[in-house]
Amino acid sequence: MMAINIPVHRGRIKSARIAPILFCLATLGTLAAANAASLSDGLYRAEQAARGAETYRAVCSSCHALDLRGNSNSPGLRGIGFLFIWEGRGLGELYTKMRSTMPTDNPGSLTEREYLDLLAFLLERNGYPAGNTELANVSGELETVVISAAGGN
Ligand code: HEC
Repeated sequence: MMAINIPVHRGRIKSARIAPILFCLATLGTLAAANAASLSDGLYRAEQAARGAETYRAVCSSCHALDLRGNSNSPGLRGIGFLFIWEGRGLGELYTKMRSTMPTDNPGSLTEREYLDLLAFLLERNGYPAGNTELANVSGELETVVISAAGGN
């Protein structure tokens, strides 16, 4: 019996020692991610937003309006009302929402690149700066970006 109990006991002590270390690493990882990607750093390219504008005009503007202010049936996609809903949430969540539900009459009908272009366009119209790299969805990168109110209207 002792021969069985001792290894189990050791195992418990070991994990109790490791747990705080893992917790610290996880915390550091979160901080690093928060530092790594911020909307104010310019996470999309202006050309990308311009492509998104074309797609938006063709596929989305009938409901959300050319100026993104929406209409009585569809919510606006820029400004305070939009940020009120999305501030503090992940860019990945917004991307997934668009990709899986928009356009409402044909969800998921565009390519991944077109949805990313549309997201870049929405960021531009919400006052977030453009940068040197295209917005991409590499290894869940979008999930680490938190939508902040740093943009303008
Ligand atoms: C046929 C009308 C229609 C079309 C076309 C359409 N939408 Fe929507 N959209 C809606 C409605 C209605 C809602 C609100 C219901 C919901 O959130 O699912 C919405 C919600 C959204 C939201 C969430 C807004 C929020 O405040 O939570 C986003 C983002 C969005 N649409 C983007 C797009 C994009 C990008 C396109 C083009 C690919 C598009 N929509 C095309 C009707 C439409």
